[in-house]
Amino acid sequence: MIKISPSVLACDFSKFGEEVKKVEEAGAELLHLDVMDGMFVPNISFGPDIIRSVRKQCKMIFDVHLMIEDPIRYISAFVDAGADIITIHYESCQNPKEVLKQIRAAGKKAAISLKPATPASVVASLLPYVDMVLIMTVEPGFGGQKFMMPMMEKVSAVREMVRLSGYEIDIQVDGGINAQTAKIAAAAGANVLVAGSSVFGAEDTKKAVDGIRAAAQSVYSL
Ligand code: DX5
Ligand code: ZN
Repeated sequence: MIKISPSVLACDFSKFGEEVKKVEEAGAELLHLDVMDGMFVPNISFGPDIIRSVRKQCKMIFDVHLMIEDPIRYISAFVDAGADIITIHYESCQNPKEVLKQIRAAGKKAAISLKPATPASVVASLLPYVDMVLIMTVEPGFGGQKFMMPMMEKVSAVREMVRLSGYEIDIQVDGGINAQTAKIAAAAGANVLVAGSSVFGAEDTKKAVDGIRAAAQSVYSL
């Protein structure tokens, strides 16, 4: 099933609550919350307190993308703040398996993310511990960047690994997603589409969400 996860990084933070309501009413299933620490990536966004306050007024699935060093230090804080899915970066910790296990032990969905230079092969041993794999289609850190087409090979490789494993694992793409690139990513095997600028920058939010979904659904075969 195709799921859309608008990234709030592209919203107008002076009216955060209204922006979130807009994407919820547009039918997006997930809300993508990008947490950046200025260390793992060269940008700083927000932390658990902001997420906790948005949680109170929103029923969407909270898809928390942690772009922070050594994320094990903050898993319980994001669980308490209301995260439903917690994504950590493979490159951000010594022992990703332990962090993923901790996320699941807290009753939340666990996901692993790969930066563009990290090969698909690193997720092979982690498949038993994840509910989702995120293939970054830009260098993490900023919204509004150009979709990296060469990442589609990685999406297909991970989709095939997941199929052979027999686990039910979502494949997410993040960065430069609009209706055109969503179609390309879904054809390669992605089913969870993060979109920041193309959703929050659109005049008609519902039209943008529907357009991404329809384009992806037209080619997604699972
Ligand atoms: C980048 C973030 C993305 C970003 C996507 O580091 O992880 O979620 O907000 O933004 P767009 O869709 O504008 O590329
Ligand atoms: Zn993200």
